[in-house]
Amino acid sequence: MIPYFGSKKSLAKLYPLPVHDTIIEAFSGMANYSQLYYERNVVLYDINRQICGIWRYLIDASPKDVLSLPKVKQIDRIDNYKSLCSAERDIIGFMVSRGNVRPSRSWKITKSHCIYTQNTIKRLSELSRNIKHWKVYNESYTSIEKQTATYFIDPPYQSGGRWYVGCKHFDHEKLVEWIKTLTGQIIVCENTASTWINNVRSKKIPIRKMIGQKHITFEVYKHYII
Ligand SMILES: C[S@@+](CC[C@H](N)C(=O)[O-])C[C@H]1O[C@@H](n2cnc3c(N)ncnc32)[C@H](O)[C@@H]1O
Repeated sequence: MIPYFGSKKSLAKLYPLPVHDTIIEAFSGMANYSQLYYERNVVLYDINRQICGIWRYLIDASPKDVLSLPKVKQIDRIDNYKSLCSAERDIIGFMVSRGNVRPSRSWKITKSHCIYTQNTIKRLSELSRNIKHWKVYNESYTSIEKQTATYFIDPPYQSGGRWYVGCKHFDHEKLVEWIKTLTGQIIVCENTASTWINNVRSKKIPIRKMIGQKHITFEVYKHYII
Protein backbone atom coordinates (compact mmCIF):
# COMPACT_ATOMS: atom_id res chain seq x y z
CA MET A 1 0.00 0.00 0.00
CA ILE A 2 2.91 2.31 0.78
CA PRO A 3 5.21 2.37 -2.27
CA TYR A 4 8.79 1.21 -1.74
CA PHE A 5 11.71 0.20 -3.92
CA GLY A 6 11.53 -3.57 -4.55
CA SER A 7 8.10 -3.87 -2.95
CA LYS A 8 6.15 -7.05 -3.72
CA LYS A 9 2.78 -5.34 -3.91
CA SER A 10 1.77 -6.79 -7.26
CA LEU A 11 3.59 -10.13 -6.85
CA ALA A 12 2.58 -10.94 -3.27
CA LYS A 13 -0.59 -12.82 -4.22
CA LEU A 14 1.35 -15.13 -6.54
CA TYR A 15 3.49 -16.62 -3.79
CA PRO A 16 2.32 -19.78 -2.03
CA LEU A 17 -0.20 -19.45 0.78
CA PRO A 18 1.44 -19.52 4.20
CA VAL A 19 1.06 -22.96 5.79
CA HIS A 20 2.04 -21.85 9.30
CA ASP A 21 0.26 -19.58 11.74
CA THR A 22 3.38 -17.51 12.13
CA ILE A 23 4.80 -15.55 9.20
CA ILE A 24 8.28 -14.14 9.65
CA GLU A 25 9.27 -11.48 7.12
CA ALA A 26 13.02 -11.35 7.57
CA PHE A 27 13.38 -8.30 5.28
CA SER A 28 10.08 -6.63 5.83
CA GLY A 29 10.12 -3.44 3.80
CA MET A 30 6.40 -2.73 3.33
CA ALA A 31 5.59 -6.38 4.11
CA ASN A 32 3.24 -6.87 1.19
CA TYR A 33 3.14 -10.66 1.62
CA SER A 34 2.11 -10.42 5.28
CA GLN A 35 -0.48 -7.77 4.48
CA LEU A 36 -2.42 -10.42 2.54
CA TYR A 37 -2.52 -12.72 5.58
CA TYR A 38 -2.63 -10.03 8.25
CA GLU A 39 -4.64 -12.16 10.67
CA ARG A 40 -1.66 -14.54 11.18
CA ASN A 41 1.05 -14.00 13.79
CA VAL A 42 3.18 -11.69 11.72
CA VAL A 43 6.72 -10.86 12.81
CA LEU A 44 8.72 -8.27 10.86
CA TYR A 45 12.44 -7.56 10.84
CA ASP A 46 14.17 -4.73 9.02
CA ILE A 47 17.37 -2.80 9.68
CA ASN A 48 15.81 0.38 8.29
CA ARG A 49 14.72 2.63 11.18
CA GLN A 50 12.19 4.57 9.10
CA ILE A 51 10.52 1.42 7.79
CA CYS A 52 10.17 0.00 11.31
CA GLY A 53 8.97 3.41 12.56
CA ILE A 54 6.15 3.29 9.99
CA TRP A 55 5.12 -0.21 11.10
CA ARG A 56 5.23 0.72 14.80
CA TYR A 57 3.11 3.76 14.05
CA LEU A 58 0.52 1.74 12.11
CA ILE A 59 0.39 -0.92 14.85
CA ASP A 60 -0.07 1.65 17.64
CA ALA A 61 -2.17 4.31 15.87
CA SER A 62 -5.91 4.50 16.13
CA PRO A 63 -7.81 4.47 12.83
CA LYS A 64 -8.72 8.08 13.63
CA ASP A 65 -5.02 9.02 13.86
CA VAL A 66 -4.41 7.60 10.41
CA LEU A 67 -7.53 9.16 8.93
CA SER A 68 -6.36 12.53 10.27
CA LEU A 69 -3.25 12.58 8.09
CA PRO A 70 -3.37 15.99 6.41
CA LYS A 71 -4.35 16.83 2.90
CA VAL A 72 -1.25 18.34 1.35
CA LYS A 73 -0.96 21.01 -1.31
CA GLN A 74 -0.04 20.11 -4.85
CA ILE A 75 3.54 21.15 -4.32
CA ASP A 76 4.48 21.16 -0.70
CA ARG A 77 7.32 20.63 1.75
CA ILE A 78 7.56 18.36 4.72
CA ASP A 79 8.70 21.31 6.86
CA ASN A 80 5.22 22.83 6.53
CA TYR A 81 3.84 20.02 8.69
CA LYS A 82 5.78 20.33 11.92
CA SER A 83 3.03 18.79 14.03
CA LEU A 84 3.33 15.43 12.28
CA CYS A 85 5.44 12.74 13.92
CA SER A 86 8.35 11.33 11.92
CA ALA A 87 6.47 8.16 10.92
CA GLU A 88 3.57 10.24 9.56
CA ARG A 89 5.99 12.34 7.52
CA ASP A 90 7.68 9.20 6.24
CA ILE A 91 4.37 7.63 5.21
CA ILE A 92 3.47 10.72 3.19
CA GLY A 93 7.05 11.00 1.87
CA PHE A 94 6.89 7.45 0.49
CA MET A 95 3.41 7.88 -0.92
CA VAL A 96 4.29 10.92 -2.99
CA SER A 97 7.40 9.30 -4.47
CA ARG A 98 6.59 5.91 -5.84
CA GLY A 99 9.23 3.20 -5.50
CA ASN A 100 12.00 5.01 -3.60
CA VAL A 101 14.28 3.67 -0.88
CA ARG A 102 13.82 6.85 1.17
CA PRO A 103 10.76 8.99 1.77
CA SER A 104 10.75 12.22 -0.17
CA ARG A 105 10.98 15.46 1.81
CA SER A 106 9.50 17.65 -0.88
CA TRP A 107 6.03 16.60 -1.83
CA LYS A 108 4.87 16.91 -5.42
CA ILE A 109 1.34 15.72 -5.80
CA THR A 110 1.22 14.69 -9.42
CA LYS A 111 -1.05 12.12 -10.98
CA SER A 112 1.74 9.84 -12.19
CA HIS A 113 3.67 9.45 -8.95
CA CYS A 114 1.45 10.21 -6.05
CA ILE A 115 -0.84 7.68 -4.45
CA TYR A 116 -1.44 9.86 -1.41
CA THR A 117 -5.20 10.11 -1.76
CA GLN A 118 -8.12 9.95 0.65
CA ASN A 119 -8.84 6.47 -0.63
CA THR A 120 -5.35 5.19 0.20
CA ILE A 121 -5.45 6.82 3.63
CA LYS A 122 -8.73 5.03 4.28
CA ARG A 123 -7.19 1.69 3.27
CA LEU A 124 -4.18 2.42 5.44
CA SER A 125 -6.41 3.06 8.43
CA GLU A 126 -8.15 -0.28 7.80
CA LEU A 127 -4.78 -2.00 7.68
CA SER A 128 -3.77 -0.25 10.91
CA ARG A 129 -6.95 -1.51 12.59
CA ASN A 130 -6.16 -5.10 11.56
CA ILE A 131 -2.51 -5.43 12.57
CA LYS A 132 -2.52 -4.64 16.28
CA HIS A 133 -1.08 -8.10 17.00
CA TRP A 134 1.90 -7.74 14.63
CA LYS A 135 5.42 -7.51 16.03
CA VAL A 136 8.19 -5.45 14.48
CA TYR A 137 11.91 -5.49 15.23
CA ASN A 138 14.36 -2.92 13.93
CA GLU A 139 17.04 -5.58 13.78
CA SER A 140 18.90 -7.68 11.27
CA TYR A 141 17.55 -11.03 10.10
CA THR A 142 20.46 -12.61 11.98
CA SER A 143 18.71 -11.80 15.30
CA ILE A 144 15.54 -13.67 14.42
CA GLU A 145 14.57 -16.15 17.08
CA LYS A 146 14.21 -19.26 14.96
CA GLN A 147 11.05 -21.33 15.04
CA THR A 148 9.10 -23.44 12.58
CA ALA A 149 7.17 -20.86 10.61
CA THR A 150 6.50 -19.48 7.16
CA TYR A 151 9.55 -17.40 6.32
CA PHE A 152 9.19 -14.80 3.61
CA ILE A 153 12.71 -13.85 2.61
CA ASP A 154 12.94 -10.89 0.24
CA PRO A 155 16.48 -9.53 0.74
CA PRO A 156 18.21 -6.70 -1.13
CA TYR A 157 18.76 -8.16 -4.58
CA GLN A 158 22.28 -8.95 -5.66
CA SER A 159 21.83 -6.54 -8.53
CA GLY A 160 20.30 -3.24 -7.39
CA GLY A 161 20.03 -4.07 -3.69
CA ARG A 162 22.87 -1.76 -2.70
CA TRP A 163 20.49 1.20 -2.92
CA TYR A 164 18.76 0.24 0.31
CA VAL A 165 19.88 2.18 3.36
CA GLY A 166 22.94 0.46 4.88
CA CYS A 167 23.06 -2.30 2.24
CA LYS A 168 26.09 -1.41 0.11
CA HIS A 169 27.88 -4.58 1.16
CA PHE A 170 25.08 -7.04 1.79
CA ASP A 171 26.53 -10.54 2.25
CA HIS A 172 24.38 -12.99 0.28
CA GLU A 173 26.57 -15.99 1.10
CA LYS A 174 25.98 -15.41 4.81
CA LEU A 175 22.27 -15.32 4.07
CA VAL A 176 22.52 -18.68 2.28
CA GLU A 177 24.02 -20.26 5.41
CA TRP A 178 21.27 -18.76 7.56
CA ILE A 179 18.51 -19.97 5.25
CA LYS A 180 19.89 -23.49 5.50
CA THR A 181 19.31 -23.46 9.28
CA LEU A 182 15.59 -22.63 9.01
CA THR A 183 12.72 -25.04 9.42
CA GLY A 184 9.24 -24.59 8.02
CA GLN A 185 8.03 -23.08 4.78
CA ILE A 186 10.70 -20.93 3.25
CA ILE A 187 9.98 -18.57 0.39
CA VAL A 188 12.99 -16.81 -1.08
CA CYS A 189 12.84 -14.01 -3.65
CA GLU A 190 15.49 -12.91 -6.12
CA ASN A 191 15.72 -11.94 -9.75
CA THR A 192 17.32 -13.52 -12.77
CA ALA A 193 20.62 -11.67 -12.30
CA SER A 194 21.50 -13.38 -9.02
CA THR A 195 24.06 -16.13 -8.49
CA TRP A 196 23.86 -16.69 -4.72
CA ILE A 197 20.36 -18.15 -4.95
CA ASN A 198 21.86 -21.19 -6.72
CA ASN A 199 23.58 -22.09 -3.45
CA VAL A 200 20.24 -22.27 -1.66
CA ARG A 201 19.13 -24.95 -4.07
CA SER A 202 19.88 -28.58 -3.50
CA LYS A 203 18.62 -31.72 -5.17
CA LYS A 204 16.53 -32.41 -2.12
CA ILE A 205 14.77 -29.10 -2.31
CA PRO A 206 12.00 -28.76 -4.87
CA ILE A 207 12.05 -25.47 -6.68
CA ARG A 208 9.19 -23.95 -8.55
CA LYS A 209 9.51 -21.10 -10.97
CA MET A 210 6.61 -18.76 -11.01
CA ILE A 211 5.54 -18.90 -14.60
CA GLY A 212 5.06 -15.66 -16.43
CA GLN A 213 7.02 -13.63 -13.92
CA LYS A 214 10.04 -11.54 -14.65
CA HIS A 215 11.40 -12.36 -11.21
CA ILE A 216 12.43 -15.88 -10.38
CA THR A 217 11.06 -17.04 -7.10
CA PHE A 218 12.27 -20.17 -5.44
CA GLU A 219 9.96 -21.93 -3.13
CA VAL A 220 12.14 -23.93 -0.81
CA TYR A 221 10.67 -26.59 1.42
CA LYS A 222 12.88 -27.93 4.15
CA HIS A 223 11.61 -30.05 7.01
CA TYR A 224 8.22 -29.20 5.67
CA ILE A 225 5.61 -29.45 8.43
CA ILE A 226 1.89 -28.95 7.89
C1 LIG B 1 13.42 -6.02 -1.20
S1 LIG B 1 13.11 -5.07 0.25
C2 LIG B 1 11.71 -5.90 0.92
C3 LIG B 1 10.45 -5.51 0.19
C4 LIG B 1 9.19 -6.08 0.79
N1 LIG B 1 9.05 -7.49 0.52
C5 LIG B 1 7.96 -5.34 0.31
O1 LIG B 1 7.02 -5.95 -0.20
O2 LIG B 1 7.95 -4.10 0.45
C6 LIG B 1 14.44 -5.52 1.28
C7 LIG B 1 14.44 -4.94 2.69
O3 LIG B 1 15.48 -5.59 3.43
C8 LIG B 1 15.95 -4.68 4.40
N2 LIG B 1 17.24 -5.19 4.92
C9 LIG B 1 18.47 -5.06 4.38
N3 LIG B 1 19.39 -5.72 5.10
C10 LIG B 1 18.72 -6.29 6.14
C11 LIG B 1 19.11 -7.13 7.22
N4 LIG B 1 20.39 -7.48 7.42
N5 LIG B 1 18.17 -7.59 8.07
C12 LIG B 1 16.85 -7.22 7.88
N6 LIG B 1 16.42 -6.41 6.89
C13 LIG B 1 17.34 -5.96 6.03
C14 LIG B 1 16.01 -3.36 3.66
O4 LIG B 1 16.05 -2.28 4.55
C15 LIG B 1 14.74 -3.44 2.81
O5 LIG B 1 13.68 -2.81 3.48
